[in-house]
Amino acid sequence: MNITNQHFLKDSELETKQITADALGEGKLIEGNTLNVLAKIDDDAVNVGVTSPPYNKQEKQKGWLVKNVVYDTYKDAVPEPEYQQNQVNVLNEMYRITAPGGSFFYNHKTRWHRGNMFHPMDWLRKTEWTVKQEIIWDRVLAANIRGWRFWQVEERIYWLYKPIGNALIGKELRSCDAKLTSIWRGAPEDGRKNPHPAPFPLWLPARVIISILETETPGVVIDPYIGSGTTAVAAKLLGHKYIGIDRSETYLKMTSDRLENAPSEMPKIQAELALHKVEITAQERRSKGMNMGKYRPTDNERQETLFENSG
Ligand SMILES: C[S@@+](CC[C@H](N)C(=O)[O-])C[C@H]1O[C@@H](n2cnc3c(N)ncnc32)[C@H](O)[C@@H]1O
Repeated sequence: MNITNQHFLKDSELETKQITADALGEGKLIEGNTLNVLAKIDDDAVNVGVTSPPYNKQEKQKGWLVKNVVYDTYKDAVPEPEYQQNQVNVLNEMYRITAPGGSFFYNHKTRWHRGNMFHPMDWLRKTEWTVKQEIIWDRVLAANIRGWRFWQVEERIYWLYKPIGNALIGKELRSCDAKLTSIWRGAPEDGRKNPHPAPFPLWLPARVIISILETETPGVVIDPYIGSGTTAVAAKLLGHKYIGIDRSETYLKMTSDRLENAPSEMPKIQAELALHKVEITAQERRSKGMNMGKYRPTDNERQETLFENSG
């Protein structure tokens, strides 16, 4: 089947490694199990991935404050070893399809089973990726609250890197991106605006894409668990191609509707872009006799610009 002009595909219609960067058009939405669909994508075909997989939370009715996440097509509950092995397989497939020098931002969290913590590093270390950074996402108000431990309002985002040859570190971020710090503060998407049970806020994939991809050259962005399409919308509005995968036809329909109306979400992208600016360079700061320290806490830390810039 010629897929170039098709926006919506099913796993069963595709051949192994059939999806290439050249055949993407504006982008592709693919229905199927993530691991099976990834096998249909060519080696080195994408530049950056952003995702939040299902967490295998095995929740019944644990919390007092926030409703449990309930997906439409499946229960988020398999034996933990099976879950972790599946994630290792997905992560290694993501590594194969990512071009050298590319990155994957993998959102997860610490979880507990019978009092014991599962940490995402338990399985990330078993994959081929170089773990470049652990970012804390401070969701401000999030997750269920019980008194077993302090209220967990944070999640983690792992910046995973595919080296070019032996160059394990890769290139530096621009100073206007690096100043944003490794703590990302922002509430999850408002459930009244997005009916998906666990959507990203748009600024999150936008921050990744702005920081990692060059604006002048269209890149390929993938979210292997696309849900309501937030990553694809960010990619489209920032001028890149996208691949979105989900097992739910309903969620893929949400994604395609959002993509059609993407311009209405541009103000949120512009708000994120506005944070990627250096207001004052180190040289200017020095010449004005201003503070040269790297960090000073303020009430509005996320937008703070008191960071040293080499420019
Ligand atoms: C945490 S949600 C992602 C939400 C997304 N970031 C957004 O902004 O809407 C995880 C998604 O993975 C999908 N999913 C779960 N297991 C899957 C699998 N094995 N294959 C494909 N999709 C899966 C679910 O249907 C759900 O939409």
